[in-house]
Amino acid sequence: MPAQPDDLAALPDSATATAVALSGVRHEYRSGGQRILALDGIDLRLAAGESLAVVGPSGCGKSTLLRMVAGFLRPSHGEISVGGAPVTRPGPDRGVVFQQPRLFPWLSVYGNVAYGLREAGVPRRARRERVGQLLDLVGLGDVAALRPYELSGGMQQRAAIARALAPDPAILLLDEPFAALDALTRERLQEELRTLWLRTGRTQLLVTHSVDEAALLGSRIIVLSPRPGTVVLDEQSALPRAEHARDLPEFTALRARILQAVRAPGR
Ligand SMILES: Nc1ncnc2c1ncn2[C@@H]1O[C@H](COP(=O)(O)OP(=O)(O)OP(=O)(O)O)[C@@H](O)[C@H]1O
Ligand SMILES: [Mg+2]
Repeated sequence: MPAQPDDLAALPDSATATAVALSGVRHEYRSGGQRILALDGIDLRLAAGESLAVVGPSGCGKSTLLRMVAGFLRPSHGEISVGGAPVTRPGPDRGVVFQQPRLFPWLSVYGNVAYGLREAGVPRRARRERVGQLLDLVGLGDVAALRPYELSGGMQQRAAIARALAPDPAILLLDEPFAALDALTRERLQEELRTLWLRTGRTQLLVTHSVDEAALLGSRIIVLSPRPGTVVLDEQSALPRAEHARDLPEFTALRARILQAVRAPGR
């Protein structure tokens, strides 16, 4: 990230006390008389400060899992709690970033990032300070006045990340945040997100079908089987907490183990 560590030190970090727990979670969609079992037997405990990468083939239930933690969807069975409280709806303790930035087109970059703070009644001065810090953090300090359509895809996604971080959520939930970007931009934003996590230690849940992205960004990686998704690999990353980890042998080894679990989930 283009930001200096000083910028980060200035951001309040309330992330440390909260964790996520899923027990016996199963989700079945019902549509047109059909039942689709998306996820089954999910038992997960996410410690505060962990960055959990969830990887698996298309349709295995990754987004379903994330949407349940976000509170957009209730599980058919089982319990989900965040910070010890059952999840019943979305809340400011969970910031969500989607594959498409979903920015408000009628607001400037500044307005988009400030939106949640305004809704929460944060006074104008505090709002301005916080948004300024966040825009510097994601390298958009000089384009605050522009509208989303005037930004590149990567810049829009940075703005979406800043917007999700604005209420200082305990947990950042990301669903394929870089999938719509070109390969170079994607690699750069992956590095930036990694640096952000290394510096802030915010609890993160990242859903991806990219093995590289999971290996790079997860302090812990779980692999889901094809639908119904069940956990077939649950591994703590031994990747050193350094920048540019992609070049390290530990990265190659971790990547190979994830890939094997994705390709042969039963073994
Ligand atoms: N609203 C819905 N109604 C009915 N079925 C759904 C709904 N949303 C998802 N599904 C089904 O549930 C399964 C899991 O979907 P989900 O979106 O969680 O997968 P995913 O792992 O995120 O896939 P992808 O990598 O393609 O994004 C799929 O078979 C999908 O067709
Ligand atoms: Mg998905």
